[in-house]
Amino acid sequence: MSTPLAPRTLGPTGPTISAIGLGCWQFSLGKGMAGRFWPTLELSTIQDIVQASLEGGINWFDTAELYGRGESEKSLAHALVENRVQPGQVTIATKWWPMARGTGHLLSSINTRSNCLAPYDIDLYQIHQPYALASMRSQMDAMAQLVHEGKIKQVGVSNFNASQMRLAHKILAKHGIPLASNQVKYSLLDRKIERNGVLEVAKELNITIIAYSPLEQGLLTGRFHQDSTDSRPLTGPRKFQSKFRGAAIESTRNLIETLASIAEQYGKTVSQIALNWLVSRHGHTVVAIPGASKVYQARDNAGTLQFSLTESDLARIDAESRKVLSM
Ligand SMILES: NC(=O)c1ccc[n+]([C@@H]2O[C@H](COP(=O)([O-])OP(=O)(O)OC[C@H]3O[C@@H](n4cnc5c(N)ncnc54)[C@H](OP(=O)(O)O)[C@@H]3O)[C@@H](O)[C@H]2O)c1
Repeated sequence: MSTPLAPRTLGPTGPTISAIGLGCWQFSLGKGMAGRFWPTLELSTIQDIVQASLEGGINWFDTAELYGRGESEKSLAHALVENRVQPGQVTIATKWWPMARGTGHLLSSINTRSNCLAPYDIDLYQIHQPYALASMRSQMDAMAQLVHEGKIKQVGVSNFNASQMRLAHKILAKHGIPLASNQVKYSLLDRKIERNGVLEVAKELNITIIAYSPLEQGLLTGRFHQDSTDSRPLTGPRKFQSKFRGAAIESTRNLIETLASIAEQYGKTVSQIALNWLVSRHGHTVVAIPGASKVYQARDNAGTLQFSLTESDLARIDAESRKVLSM
């Protein structure tokens, strides 16, 4: 039970990363369309969230150009500097947004990404999603060029389906570069990747799955199940998401109660049990990047690294999650 989760290799060739990373969408400072999803955080809060993550054993961070048009990258770098983290001590993943852009932009904008993240290197550069103006071949050729020029270390993708993963992997292989990762939505309440071939291809080709929204944006923490639906004030985008209200909350209550009873046995939290299941269920293939807007959340999520669930508890959680998904 108290065996810590083993670190993982990102893709087939490294670096070594903790099974939980920190998602940094929440650091967008309210800028841009995507950035307005979360409330604006103070830089001092971001610094404290990063500190709590580092202290909890997290050694990598996921951000994107899209998150506040570079504000998330800049505030992450600032927080790491303030926490006296030397370049090379942590792994940094960021993403390029391909919509309505060609590969000329992929190549020319890398200096902006590097400047936003300075003094830290781009360890993993991901294509944020598959809907692109440029062909897959030209995007992967451009990514390979960035690797060969030393501007990025590894190549990843995000929201790619199984055949898109295979194609990206094949094109990169011609350049002698592995596809390191595919970042996709995956949680106890969203297990599509187990059925649509993405997880299977990842295991076959040794591609790391980076699970985003692993807590279903807070739903799998149990905090939205605590009050009655009527008295619970929903703020921000959750006001418009049906999963946080009424019948949907009731449909996930048994799962949350199962997580809570296991959490009690282990002396852990509901979130930690949900995250631990996610990164343990498929050996070393899946890592997760919960986001945090408060220091206690970062501490809680990092605490997932300190224990392992038994096979029978993994199976019990698995079965309860399937019941919800089959409803
Ligand atoms: N590649 C993509 O297309 C894509 C898409 C979405 C996300 N992502 C990445 O994945 C990361 C995580 O996804 P996400 O932010 O959508 O969802 P998430 O990690 O499932 O949920 C994050 C939110 O849940 C709440 N929370 C987190 N930990 C908690 C805890 N221990 N206790 C109580 N509440 C907690 C917080 O809500 P409050 O802030 O309201 O307190 C937090 O902002 C993002 O930061 C981003 O890096 C990638």
